[in-house]
Amino acid sequence: MILVTGGAGFIGSHTCAALAAQGERFVILDNFSNSRRSVLDRLARITGAPVDCVEGDVRDGALVARVLRDHAVDAVIHFAGLKAVGESVREPLRYYDNNVGGTLALLAAMREVGVRTVVFSSSATVYGEPISSPIREDFALQPANPYGWSKAMAEQALADLDHSAPGQWRIARLRYFNPVGAHESGLIGEDPQDVPNNLMPYVAQVAAGQRPELSIFGGDYSTADGTGVRDYIHVSDLAEGHVAALRYLRAHPGLITVNLGTGQPVSVLQMVQAFERASGRPVPYRIAARRPGDVPAYWADPSQAERLLGWRAWRGADHMCVDAWRWQSGAAS
Ligand code: WQD
Repeated sequence: MILVTGGAGFIGSHTCAALAAQGERFVILDNFSNSRRSVLDRLARITGAPVDCVEGDVRDGALVARVLRDHAVDAVIHFAGLKAVGESVREPLRYYDNNVGGTLALLAAMREVGVRTVVFSSSATVYGEPISSPIREDFALQPANPYGWSKAMAEQALADLDHSAPGQWRIARLRYFNPVGAHESGLIGEDPQDVPNNLMPYVAQVAAGQRPELSIFGGDYSTADGTGVRDYIHVSDLAEGHVAALRYLRAHPGLITVNLGTGQPVSVLQMVQAFERASGRPVPYRIAARRPGDVPAYWADPSQAERLLGWRAWRGADHMCVDAWRWQSGAAS
């Protein structure tokens, strides 16, 4: 049985769908602070089975220990946490409490109960402004904001835990690049609670007529078309990467650190054009000032994931946009 903390969230829910598709049983722990309970019903429609969810906070160690015991959990995939870079700058203590405090409470409960397999949701934000791309896992960690630091600190705690008990823990630290898209059913997807910070949900809302135009933050970067470049990865590819990491850990004790990206750099303008093709709708935009803190261009070297996990992302930008549009347009809800 897999415990999925934050399993009602964007990446968590898609990972639950991937777990079910590969015959794995899971139970969700979620405090619904940044997710909707309705996701559980939709997940049940996708998996064809009722979804087991405990409402609660990963920082409540006694609750986590109880869930681990009551559900005979043998591994944890840990998503629960806060993930907005800008918000983390405004509210650093809340981010350290949730992302670092939550991870420490979870690990203490796991150690108490004797569950020692964990897949950790990390982020390429730990690299800060990388020296170059493609980025390898051995690049320096130089986070540029409290969100990135909270992920780097949690990663350090995992490394020290592994070092303190050689061979007893099985730990995968997965560094996501830019997750986008939605499940092929159109039943679950990215569901920002207010104005989207991220590119794809904003583009989708412009295409749907919910917003007048997209502001492209910077058109004078030293990239092919002057706009920012990222490594966008379909959320279902990302989800499948988690199942692959879990299976790797079952066969290999110790700690691994893996980038989950496509290795394909894509610019903002290229993504906008892909979305217009996918939706058949115009996405009007204007070139605006650069966003403070933005890194001009970065993308992953995904070779370690392929070598260790036998996994690689295969869904391209058009596929990401087709699935994102199906979700946005509510064709299936
Ligand atoms: C992508 C590109 C923007 C919005 C962040 C976090 C990262 C991860 C993913 C959690 C950039 C441009 C965006 C808009 C734009 N989150 N853009 N207009 O900043 O690469 O990564 O989200 O793990 O940790 O840092 O993603 O989608 O915000 O930006 O032009 O309205 O789109 O400048 O080039 P980012 P993003």
